Amino acid sequence: MSPDGNKKTLIDLVVGARPNFMKVAPLYHRLVKTDWCRPRLVHTGQHYDYKMSAAFIADLNLPEPDFYLGVGSGHHGEQTAKALASYEKIILESPPSLLIVVGDVNSTIACALAAKKLNLPVAHLEAGLRSFDRTMPEEINRVLTDAISDVLWTPSPDADENLIKEGIPGDRIHRVGNIMIDSLKMMQPKIDEKNACHELGIDWQQYGIITLHRPQNVDFEEQLSTIVAELVSASELLPFVFPVHPRTLAKLQQFDLIRDFEETPNIRLVEPLSYLMFMNLLCNSKLAVTDSGGIQEETTYLGIPCLTMRPNTERPITISMGTNKLISYDQVYESVRESVANHETKRDVPELWDGRTASRVVDHLKSEISLLQ
Ligand code: UD1
Repeated sequence: MSPDGNKKTLIDLVVGARPNFMKVAPLYHRLVKTDWCRPRLVHTGQHYDYKMSAAFIADLNLPEPDFYLGVGSGHHGEQTAKALASYEKIILESPPSLLIVVGDVNSTIACALAAKKLNLPVAHLEAGLRSFDRTMPEEINRVLTDAISDVLWTPSPDADENLIKEGIPGDRIHRVGNIMIDSLKMMQPKIDEKNACHELGIDWQQYGIITLHRPQNVDFEEQLSTIVAELVSASELLPFVFPVHPRTLAKLQQFDLIRDFEETPNIRLVEPLSYLMFMNLLCNSKLAVTDSGGIQEETTYLGIPCLTMRPNTERPITISMGTNKLISYDQVYESVRESVANHETKRDVPELWDGRTASRVVDHLKSEISLLQ
């Protein structure tokens, strides 16, 4: 029953690219257990390789999506437009009462826009994060999604402030915490069952993890070759495991840089890992070198040093409270050297990064859903 005693309220949850699955899973599992809501999983297919998509669905115990839009790869406009047009058709045929979008990928803004144009209420989970760098496609997605959403669920106080400064009415903003930590806590027993070190033949806590995929880092030959050289040097200080994103693999091949890694015994290139394997590897690592958004948060929660190869971050709380440090792409060796030499690790976990974000979202929804429809 819905909170007002009628039939179950239909709520769509959108997943598109890899970082969406761990944000949607805890919420889906909570919503499906209520007696008032029927969640539907809409997968745009922005990521489609087994290792970027289905492996996460399986690891996070999500069901087969109710709708698979199959938008695939493409330029930003094309990918966003395909998701928008395909999701619009679903709404027209079978409208939900509310759409929930997460994060900042192209699928997030595409589906939010389709829904708003049809006057459906939209809620954005992980709202308010800002890098203030509008050359990042994700920043455009964040600003636009927040501007049109009816409910903005934020992870941290800086996000609330950003939204207020953009003129979003305060009564739309609700701080609920960091949903990624829900996934981590929910899956921790299964993460601990994995033995990634054994499978990869590396020593527990004696290695670092590399992840890289941002266009700013990997799309330009000169920059990518500097990064490769820096990582090769850094591997003399600490061995690394590098699960390679498809975009990065394509660029390493295009620029003939893959061989530099293949000739470096202390860097293990592996395919993208499933959620459980990756988190097992991260939990037992000494350090992460990354340009990912989510890994900045997970390392802060885990108390593992994180070197983020970016000039800015939309997650400043991971620097002010956590273990994150921004580094320049031509200072990787030096930053790894400093990090390995410094044995102190800060461990302040931001408020509400406690594994209870999904339950706060569901409580809020239950009390507000009748006002939104
Ligand atoms: C997207 C998100 C980014 C997120 C990242 C995580 C946007 C704007 N970007 O970036 O915020 O951090 O996902 O991975 O939405 N590809 C495959 N197989 C796949 C998926 C992609 O081969 O399953 C290839 C595509 O063909 C493309 C490249 O990888 O050439 C990039 O994919 P795309 O979805 O455009 O962007 P990401 O860089 O993954």
